[in-house]
Amino acid sequence: MYKFIILLTILLFPPSVLASEVEVELPYAKLDLSPEAVERGKSIYMVSCRVCHSLQYWRTKENPEGINAFIDREGALESFGVVPTDLTIITKARGRRLNGAQYVYQFLTTFYVEDGSIKNRAFAHWTETDGTTVMPPAFAPTDPEIERKAKDIAAFLNYVADPSAAERKRLGRYVLVYMVILTGLLYALNRKVWKGVKK
Ligand code: HEC
Repeated sequence: MYKFIILLTILLFPPSVLASEVEVELPYAKLDLSPEAVERGKSIYMVSCRVCHSLQYWRTKENPEGINAFIDREGALESFGVVPTDLTIITKARGRRLNGAQYVYQFLTTFYVEDGSIKNRAFAHWTETDGTTVMPPAFAPTDPEIERKAKDIAAFLNYVADPSAAERKRLGRYVLVYMVILTGLLYALNRKVWKGVKK
């Protein structure tokens, strides 16, 4: 009976529902994932993020070895005490579907300073800490363009984590049409074959 009650409680209140009650509100962006936004995000990334963060696993014709950060391991360790995360799959690592891209947007827009240390609300949420981080804010909170820049970078990193997603969706549509036609043909064939047998 106890087991049943526990099971029922879990079913009625999945952990996400319980957790969401204590969550702080994080800003949600309406993300534009168009190729243009991805391209804009890439330009901003190369100027504002590449100094510290690599995209080691994003292999393209132009960069068959991925993209290295400008700062090297030792330099980073000396300056920050940690090596800045490789961001190739950050949008997959921090949430399912578009939540990872949403996280990047939230991360870039929720820096603040408290008691002389840099803190970040999105980082606090994900790492379950008070959000203290050694990354200096990439954009000032007063930057009038901060929203757009953060959105574009989110779109870019979302693309980098799964570059063939658009192609897969496009192909998927053709596969569905093909299946429908094939089903129709097989159905017709089936009727023809059995016509004389089943009366
Ligand atoms: C001056 C170096 C520097 C620059 C420039 C920089 N970062 Fe960082 N970033 C760091 C460091 C160091 C960390 C690790 C923070 C920590 O562990 O406290 C970090 C952490 C992050 C994280 C959090 C990873 C996680 O674990 O959740 C994200 C996301 C991120 N950076 C994105 C960016 C983006 C996007 C840009 C460009 C707009 C950028 N960073 C620019 C140094 C930098």
